[in-house]
Amino acid sequence: MKEIRIGLVGSGWMGKAHSSALADAEMLFGPDYGTASFEIVADANEEAAKSAQKKIGFKRISTDWHDVVTDPNVDLVDIATPNAFHYVVAKAALENGKNVYCEKPLSISAEESRELAELAAEKGVVNYVGFNNSQNPITWRHINKLAGCGALGDLGSHLLSISQFIMGDITKVNAVATTVFPKRPKSAGSTEMVDVENEDIMTFMAEYANGAIGQIACSRVATGRKNYLTYEIQGTKGSVRYDLERMGEVQVYFQSDNERDRGFRTVLLNPLMKGYSAFQPAGGISIAYNDMKILEVHALFDAITNGADYVTDFEFGYKIDRTVAAVIESSKTREWVDVK
Ligand SMILES: NC(=O)c1ccc[n+]([C@@H]2O[C@H](COP(=O)([O-])OP(=O)(O)OC[C@H]3O[C@@H](n4cnc5c(N)ncnc54)[C@H](O)[C@@H]3O)[C@@H](O)[C@H]2O)c1
Repeated sequence: MKEIRIGLVGSGWMGKAHSSALADAEMLFGPDYGTASFEIVADANEEAAKSAQKKIGFKRISTDWHDVVTDPNVDLVDIATPNAFHYVVAKAALENGKNVYCEKPLSISAEESRELAELAAEKGVVNYVGFNNSQNPITWRHINKLAGCGALGDLGSHLLSISQFIMGDITKVNAVATTVFPKRPKSAGSTEMVDVENEDIMTFMAEYANGAIGQIACSRVATGRKNYLTYEIQGTKGSVRYDLERMGEVQVYFQSDNERDRGFRTVLLNPLMKGYSAFQPAGGISIAYNDMKILEVHALFDAITNGADYVTDFEFGYKIDRTVAAVIESSKTREWVDVK
């Protein structure tokens, strides 16, 4: 049993979700993957750091993330700050030879992500990005069953990671964006209105390296939708439809079914899907969002302790950020843009 000493930076929603997953992973998967030891937490807000220490049991706290990345007693720097800080914290952590677990997106620019991916490769440490939807047991099922079936489509926002995870690289995009609310309160509850600098809705067409085409859309102003992370992949041999608001089920269609009864059917999550059986012994029992984080931490620990392969490394994060950059460029130029 290897002890993995955690240094957490940012103890908000994701910092807590990570910590709870770090504590639960060993209980569910056993000791062969490592035991989390909560060494130090840094949060710019001292009260938040103190609260995390009390609830999670970190030995020490700080209001300065430098204390985490330079701490000789930290094996894994866990970054759950707002996006803009990912780059500086991850870079300093890598420079200090730490393994890094960074929330998505890896950074706020393709250039920063490229630098991080190169530095991580140079240092040879584990470098994991929190694209947890790739850990959804249902996603794994889709890969096994339907990857490479032919012409496929895709939609979703966070799903840029799932999309490229399942279908391979996006090579070209053509986007349109709009800002529905040009001004918003400066902060929650404020009466001061400031300009909104980025889009509320982004829609784009994509070409994949494998010849598939797709359309992907994301909106932060859609009324009625709560966690509408949805995709449909249409292949020549079958199709799949998934909606994260209904996490325990997937709709599948097989062209090989007899013609009279052919149609979409609902398949419930079950122990034959990778990762599920760690939580539930029988099919149809719900698992939830935070369980994806436990599966993510399990993959991360397996990489640190046993050298296991993992997909969502910094190079993968860089690929997502390159795609994001191309989509944004296209939404401005109104032309097709290559993902460089
Ligand atoms: N994987 C997912 O599904 C998912 C979901 C939500 C958020 N996220 C990602 O998680 C990250 C954090 O989001 P959140 O929702 O937990 O935010 P949050 O606002 O709840 O928490 C962020 C915390 O970071 C602290 N912080 C801010 N600047 C800091 C600094 N310089 N040094 C140390 N601490 C600092 C804040 O005080 C706060 O406690 C973001 O990158 C976001 O994209 C991922």
